[in-house]
Amino acid sequence: QAEDGSRLWLRYTKVADREAALRKIHCSLRDPVANTAVQELQHYWRKGDVALVLDKKWPKYQPDGYRIRSVAGKTIIRAGSSTGLLYGAYHLLRLQQIGNEVTQLDIVETPSYHLRMLNHWDNLDGTVERGYAGYSLWKWDELPAIKSPRYVEYARANASIGINAVVLNNVNASPLILRQDYIEKVKVLADSFRPYGIRVFLSINFSAPAILGNLPDSDPLNPAVARWWKDKADAIYKVIPDFGGFLVKANSEGQPGPQDYGRTHADGANMLAAALKPHKGLVLWRAFVYNPSAEDRAKQAYQEFVPLDGKFEDNVILQIKNGPIDFQPREPFNPLFGAMPNTSQMVEFQITQEYLGFSNHLVYLAPLFKETLDAETYTRKEASTVAGLTQKGPNPRLSAIAGVANIGEDRNWCGHHFAQANWYAFGRLAWNSGLSSDSVAREWLASTFSPDMTLIAPLSKVMLESREAAVNYMMPLGLHHIFAFEHHYGPEPWGDIPGGRPDWMPWYYHNADSLGIGFDRTASGSNAVAQYHSPLKEQFAALSSCPEKYLLWFHHVPWNYSMKNGRSLWDNLCYAYQEGVDQVRYVQRVWDGLEHKVDAERFKDVQAKLKIQAKDAVWWRDACLLYFQTYSKRPIPPTLEQPVHR
Ligand code: GCU
Repeated sequence: QAEDGSRLWLRYTKVADREAALRKIHCSLRDPVANTAVQELQHYWRKGDVALVLDKKWPKYQPDGYRIRSVAGKTIIRAGSSTGLLYGAYHLLRLQQIGNEVTQLDIVETPSYHLRMLNHWDNLDGTVERGYAGYSLWKWDELPAIKSPRYVEYARANASIGINAVVLNNVNASPLILRQDYIEKVKVLADSFRPYGIRVFLSINFSAPAILGNLPDSDPLNPAVARWWKDKADAIYKVIPDFGGFLVKANSEGQPGPQDYGRTHADGANMLAAALKPHKGLVLWRAFVYNPSAEDRAKQAYQEFVPLDGKFEDNVILQIKNGPIDFQPREPFNPLFGAMPNTSQMVEFQITQEYLGFSNHLVYLAPLFKETLDAETYTRKEASTVAGLTQKGPNPRLSAIAGVANIGEDRNWCGHHFAQANWYAFGRLAWNSGLSSDSVAREWLASTFSPDMTLIAPLSKVMLESREAAVNYMMPLGLHHIFAFEHHYGPEPWGDIPGGRPDWMPWYYHNADSLGIGFDRTASGSNAVAQYHSPLKEQFAALSSCPEKYLLWFHHVPWNYSMKNGRSLWDNLCYAYQEGVDQVRYVQRVWDGLEHKVDAERFKDVQAKLKIQAKDAVWWRDACLLYFQTYSKRPIPPTLEQPVHR
């Protein structure tokens, strides 16, 4: 039990030596990754012989796929690479652990994305931007001399769910990460991860040539700057031959970029792409850009990037946040998806709960991830969901997906035991975006707690509803960004800083007044609806056909507007906030009823977190309803709990 907090979903029990001697694990290949696969099975597989076989005919473009078959009492894993064998081994162990049948197998798996990556927003001083699980796992001060055992545990957890790439440092990047002494530290991490099939990427600061290299500028069209990046890339590949490439946040929220020199995002990205290309490295260029201006923030990335379609080198991928604002509890998908048919695009999700209660709230994010991945964009005839577009882009050999990690040095890794499920779900959906949120939740629960159905059934239900609950008690019906300034935890719809950036003020987003509430993004307002492809733009633009979950995202709606259920908008808001509170209280009851099925430590930890969440839900409800009531001038329906001024 003592170790439980640090074992994540990898709660396999070791096979006794005597038992191990009775079965054979054989592998036709010897390399560090294949050795990991063999070692994991040696230690934990208890159901007969296994042969791991390198299949030279396996399709080249899907190196991580595998086939598992039971043949004459033996299990055979075939794959085209050692990483495929490793994923096959973890698949077997997962089946065994969750109590599935493992003697009649015939399974073929190929991943949805080539690159399944975590983005760490970890700073070199050990803090983590928007991290709620303690300090960074990377001990920069001790590296390269000391190798924390957690580096390998971390890599193993990632490999077990198919994650094969990690960006180590914050997108708000310190230029120092590219200094030679840091590259030596990065090398140690890359060496620790390599046997688990994981490649390392770095976030870079676009001004590095000027800051580190003492050049007069960092203009991407200055040949000396391009040379500096080329030399830097060569220096990195010299010590990390499988280095992945650079993630870049440029000309966004004060970060430097090519526009500082009158150049475009494409100029900047292509200059880096040229430096990385000889080594097969990639540039992941972020599309998260917006500036204080008269233009709706939700429209700006599209305006800036769509004209650049087709101008990026083929080793550049545009990394786009799931929604057009910023990881809100609910956003419609980002209209950039599908609007640049000649540019490789990838989704960036946020696993860390910056806008979803930090590591205090139980919010299972698979439904949020799926909502974006499954969103139909109507931008082409086939494969035009966000998943389809990002999996089958202009470069069929290159597809990627990223999640901003929620991992820190907390003993339970993620701050909340249930936040581990979001790391897990991100990995599993990156591997197979067709999996259901429910099946992933069940798998995670069975691995992490127990395969006991009397535990899995109620907890999977709770998990599945938890994101909707958070939307209800925070920002129902399309409301967004009404958080307290800067920390993004509690409510502050009234927030205002005289002279502050309007696009960082909650009123910019909710627009409550005596007539109604919501952001008019139709033709009478910012017309952001026009960035969506037909028939979505028409659907979102008309009040009658706009899905109610996005109502206040696209419309400024009168308080007395009659919703589909016949109640007024105001009453619906009141009911939604109350429902969110009730949902959290329901989770508390379910959890309390499971006391004897969960170890005492985790039971108490989660119970304590749920208390915070329930209190916060009431806080959100009361703060938002009492504030909006100053505009609506309407009563809270008498059947509901009445909010209290605090
Ligand atoms: C959010 C977040 C920042 C982060 C930024 C980004 O705005 O609050 O901390 O740097 O996203 O994704 O670049």
